[in-house]
Amino acid sequence: MPVKILQFGTTGQLGVELLRQAPAHDVAVTALSRADCDLADPASAAAKVMEARPDLVVIAAAHTAVDLAESEPERARAINALTPGAIAAAAQAVGAAVVNVSTDYVFDGAGGAPYAEDAATNPLNVYGASKLEGEKAVAAANPRSLNIRTSWVVSSHGKNFIKTMLRVAAAGNPLKVVDDQSGRPTSAADLAGFILDQAPRLAAAKAGDPVFGTVHFANSGEVTWRGFAVAIFEEALGDKAPEVGATTTAEYVTPARRPLRATMDLGKLQRVFGVTPRPWREALKEIVAELAA
Ligand SMILES: NC(=O)c1ccc[n+]([C@@H]2O[C@H](COP(=O)([O-])OP(=O)(O)OC[C@H]3O[C@@H](n4cnc5c(N)ncnc54)[C@H](OP(=O)(O)O)[C@@H]3O)[C@@H](O)[C@H]2O)c1
Repeated sequence: MPVKILQFGTTGQLGVELLRQAPAHDVAVTALSRADCDLADPASAAAKVMEARPDLVVIAAAHTAVDLAESEPERARAINALTPGAIAAAAQAVGAAVVNVSTDYVFDGAGGAPYAEDAATNPLNVYGASKLEGEKAVAAANPRSLNIRTSWVVSSHGKNFIKTMLRVAAAGNPLKVVDDQSGRPTSAADLAGFILDQAPRLAAAKAGDPVFGTVHFANSGEVTWRGFAVAIFEEALGDKAPEVGATTTAEYVTPARRPLRATMDLGKLQRVFGVTPRPWREALKEIVAELAA
């Protein structure tokens, strides 16, 4: 029997990759777009779960605009915390497991990286605080839930750093990129593949199984934003790659504060799931090839 999945989010990087890869897995997916269900409304999201009675719920949508969240904290909290909590409670009521996707921005990045799953959290911005509250709400409402923290998500579609860098380079303007924040870029395709691969196990596992709780998923390796930009240009533009100047977090002022090094430890992913994600540079090559095609 295919695993019956209810997926929230169809248009984001992760949502698109889940839908693209689902046909290769033994799953039957019902996916809800923003028009089907506005995540700012917890009750309506919970009602969708009660109606669908899935085996597994995957929350692939979120308020991801990190700077905008600073000026609309209540909306970010509704979408990233209250609704995931309501979804998880409804899932518990119908016997469904839940995958909620969270972020490395739950950490302050001020020391101690790479952070393990149980390392102390201390979000620096509204987005990170709302995602952390969402993790806690999901875990409290449903013992059969998995919060997957990921970082620096990229793909060949949607809004992301790779596409932004290529657009800026095409405009021919001089480039300066932050060189004192580092992290692990993560392919949305790799994250989607992981979730779909684990779907049967998650749908079948009982409360208390080690697959539930919190796990970190990111491509392996670590780089600064500037280092990532240089790699993007090397892969996409070869000897036409532009010069990339360096700037600092202090110089590049944004509404939301960002952690300097919130890099996550990936040991639990290997221990519990037997998964070692490929290096970010390999994933980047694949995305650049997709963009070129
Ligand atoms: N992007 C990153 O760098 C990053 C880093 C760490 C963690 N994450 C987490 O990874 C997950 C996937 O992120 P992503 O990069 O795939 O996101 P994304 O590309 O920014 O897409 C966000 C998705 O959420 C939907 N959405 C936003 N507000 C909504 C609302 N009120 N009701 C219904 N849908 C709504 C969007 O729908 P519309 O298209 O209709 O707007 C879109 O489908 C999220 O949980 C995010 O917090 C992302």
